[in-house]
Amino acid sequence: MNNAVTIVRVSLNDANTLLELSRKTFFDAFLSTNNPADMEAYASTAFTLPKFQFELINPNSAFYFALVDNEIAGYIKLNYVDAQTELQDPDALEIERIYVLNDFQGQQIGKQLINLAIQTAVDKNLKYIWLGVWEHNTKAIKFYRSKGFEQFGSHPFMLGSDKQTDILMKKEL
Ligand SMILES: CC(C)(COP(=O)(O)OP(=O)(O)OC[C@H]1O[C@@H](n2cnc3c(N)ncnc32)[C@H](O)[C@@H]1OP(=O)(O)O)[C@@H](O)C(=O)NCCC(=O)NCCS
Repeated sequence: MNNAVTIVRVSLNDANTLLELSRKTFFDAFLSTNNPADMEAYASTAFTLPKFQFELINPNSAFYFALVDNEIAGYIKLNYVDAQTELQDPDALEIERIYVLNDFQGQQIGKQLINLAIQTAVDKNLKYIWLGVWEHNTKAIKFYRSKGFEQFGSHPFMLGSDKQTDILMKKEL
């Protein structure tokens, strides 16, 4: 049986916790399939306290933790309007990041985080949700497909000096 999951909005006070979690889940997920120097080059600019503080006070971004028995199990980052990393369509919501800690994967936590994104977009009368995912991240692509996302394009993504391809996926609402 799965434990009850609580989803809470991340506040500015949680910036350090969010930063640690973001780094850990990023390295856990991608270090075994990428060059460590490229990983660190990306992380050293993407995961800094000032950047997270800036993002946490941006009214067009929202982070949420998933908690299991008060323990943080994962998080999601949502962007609206001009906080979106691309498109910046006011009728769209971007899922910029969704990560579940290894020990908690496969327990429907990712599903509940993505359901929160879908419900939030529906409540705001948005037309679609979109995201970018590394073309080799088959597990995540399968997960997004199971939630009704379909590919609509691709774009280059620089992981340090490594030019990768992200698949762009969207779910119409
Ligand atoms: C992708 C991720 C967020 C999914 O979260 P999760 O909590 O593990 O997934 P859930 O338990 O909610 O599973 C939801 C669906 O995903 C699929 N899935 C989850 N784990 C799977 C696994 N180990 N193997 C195959 N499919 C799996 C299933 O279709 C499942 O649906 P079900 O209800 O039929 O079982 C999580 O695995 C993760 O954090 N991965 C590493 C980071 C990452 O790649 N993030 C995305 C970056 S774009």
